[in-house]
Amino acid sequence: MVSLKNKIVFITGATSGIGKNCAIEFAREGANLILCSRRVELLNAFSEELIKEFGIKVYSFQLDVRDEEAVNSAVKAFPEEWKSIDILINNAGLARGFAKLYEDDTQNWNEMIDTNVKGLLYVTRAVVPAMAKRNNGHIINIGSIAGHEAYPNGGAYCATKHAVDAITKSLRMDLADKNIRVSTIDPGLVETNFSVIRFHGDEDRAKNVYKGITPLSGKDIAETIVFIATRPAHVNLAQIVIFPTHQASSTIVHREDL
Ligand SMILES: NC(=O)c1ccc[n+]([C@@H]2O[C@H](COP(=O)([O-])OP(=O)(O)OC[C@H]3O[C@@H](n4cnc5c(N)ncnc54)[C@H](OP(=O)(O)O)[C@@H]3O)[C@@H](O)[C@H]2O)c1
Repeated sequence: MVSLKNKIVFITGATSGIGKNCAIEFAREGANLILCSRRVELLNAFSEELIKEFGIKVYSFQLDVRDEEAVNSAVKAFPEEWKSIDILINNAGLARGFAKLYEDDTQNWNEMIDTNVKGLLYVTRAVVPAMAKRNNGHIINIGSIAGHEAYPNGGAYCATKHAVDAITKSLRMDLADKNIRVSTIDPGLVETNFSVIRFHGDEDRAKNVYKGITPLSGKDIAETIVFIATRPAHVNLAQIVIFPTHQASSTIVHREDL
């Protein structure tokens, strides 16, 4: 296991779910963290907790990854000691709505495409040149099983995660001549705030997604990402699909009768 102590890890979307758990698990390993998300007060309070509990350094700032200019100026403004990013975790993302494609609200599509695809591209474009120059780094994208299989009522979300899959593969090819790894972790059902956001705040409906099954947790995903990041430099876990035990595909989930 390669040590993460004093490595610089940049995690997008660190106020909740997978991103928040990544921050905790990388902090536990002694990494210093660059964290961003839109809800900056929550983010700053969380950063203080991490500093206190793990004795690491944290640089946190408000960012909406959909804003290309804001992404570029934030990355340019990183203080000197934070400029050599070792690991980028492209996590910020969301699903919005669950409806037949021909009846869906196009605003949902715009939000998902702007965040999951364009936001991920902007952050990658801003961060990776310095990695390429230093010939060192690791990019870990959070894809989804929705990037492997489509499912009904999720057309636009599945499209964004298929795009993440293509971007990951293409970027790996672009960086094949460098000491830079490009990985993706593609989860099935993870209980986070994801479904609450998908259903526009309807918590009861969100709970039903995980009814009768023990879903993955944000911590399960974060621990796996730490595993990806701590393999020896010549080992790239290119793609990991991770399911709860009773999930077999996007649509096949065995639920206990309640
Ligand atoms: N949960 C699942 O079942 C599941 C399965 C497969 C893949 N995923 C993927 O995992 C990733 C994380 O989702 P999650 O399940 O952890 O959901 P979550 O609990 O809702 O967390 C999403 C995080 O992304 C941030 N975020 C959203 N839009 C943003 C934007 N425009 N700019 C910056 N930050 C933004 C949110 O922070 P703010 O609101 O403060 O900005 C939040 O911290 C997503 O890419 C999702 O597609 C989730």
